Amino acid sequence: MPTTADFLPLNGTDYVELWVGNAKQSAHYYKTAFGFQSLAYAGPETGVKDRVSYVLVQNKMRLVLTSPLHSDSPIAEHHRKHGDGVKYLALWVDDAYDAFEQTTKRGGVATVQPKTLTDGKGEVRISGIKTYGEVEHLFIERKNYNGAFMPGFVEWKSTYNPAPTGLLYVDHCVGNVGWNQMNPWVKWYEEVMGFKNILSFDDNDISTEYSALMSKVMSNGNGYVKFPINEPAEGKKKSQVEEYLDFYEGEGVQHIAIATKDIVATVRDLMSRGVDFLKVPSSYYDDLFDRVGAIEEDIEPLKELGILVDRDDEGYLLQLFSKPVEDRPTMFFEIIQRKGAKSFGKGNFKALFEALEREQDARGNL
Ligand code: FE2
Repeated sequence: MPTTADFLPLNGTDYVELWVGNAKQSAHYYKTAFGFQSLAYAGPETGVKDRVSYVLVQNKMRLVLTSPLHSDSPIAEHHRKHGDGVKYLALWVDDAYDAFEQTTKRGGVATVQPKTLTDGKGEVRISGIKTYGEVEHLFIERKNYNGAFMPGFVEWKSTYNPAPTGLLYVDHCVGNVGWNQMNPWVKWYEEVMGFKNILSFDDNDISTEYSALMSKVMSNGNGYVKFPINEPAEGKKKSQVEEYLDFYEGEGVQHIAIATKDIVATVRDLMSRGVDFLKVPSSYYDDLFDRVGAIEEDIEPLKELGILVDRDDEGYLLQLFSKPVEDRPTMFFEIIQRKGAKSFGKGNFKALFEALEREQDARGNL
């Protein structure tokens, strides 16, 4: 009898790690602009000789920012090629050794052999496999650990502590892959990770006059971890996924969506702290109620802040996308508030991609 048991049970996202050019300054930006809080630090002072890492937290979301200390580091090499970007999408598991065994025996390529890290606060078990581009999934088991982050890190107490902005947890992380690579990665997530394809969008769903993309959403068994995978599609001009691939110089994480329970307050706060968002034309709101029906929010603040709304069979969602947070037009953030809806804002794709194309055009890349 085939078993339907989930061979890779996940408790959620453990952390997202970005390899960046200057982790100290990035940490300052994510604290100041996004309201993350100082949590932990590793570097020469803690016995780590080749890198520094700053760990930030806001509610259930942990963000790690790592920079190399020397030019011969693989982190420096990664940064030279890609600029700032996501290296690890770390997943929270109950058994990191079993997660490694289950995924590698199904074809996952090992990057971190299972190991146990210990200090006076207990132990963290960790393992890892590669996914698209140079991105890796780490499996983190921390049930026997009560320190700030993990062994090798010390608690980071800062005198500079800007208030949080209401960001709660990682809702989903989207990957951009190359031409004809979406379906192979969908199959990989099905076979190696036990994920299911819960939604698909083709180029008829996601196209403007000029450009197109295709996307499939992969979800783990309990739905706590969702990874949409995008690939470019043929259009009259270069699609946003192609622009990403050109500037990231390869496949990688396109955006990280972070949940809030009050998107108006969160976005207002983020804007006041200097986070730039994509702007849709005000005509977007003219037929909003025809499209999504009644919603609890007042339309005026949504219009003022440019927040987008979409509805599916189960409810509605509000969302907004930042501009890229690096100089290269690569990774950005999405802020999302779900009110029952489990989808990804299909009804907003057209307005959104037209907004994106205006940005792309301004960069001379359309
Ligand atoms: Fe998204």
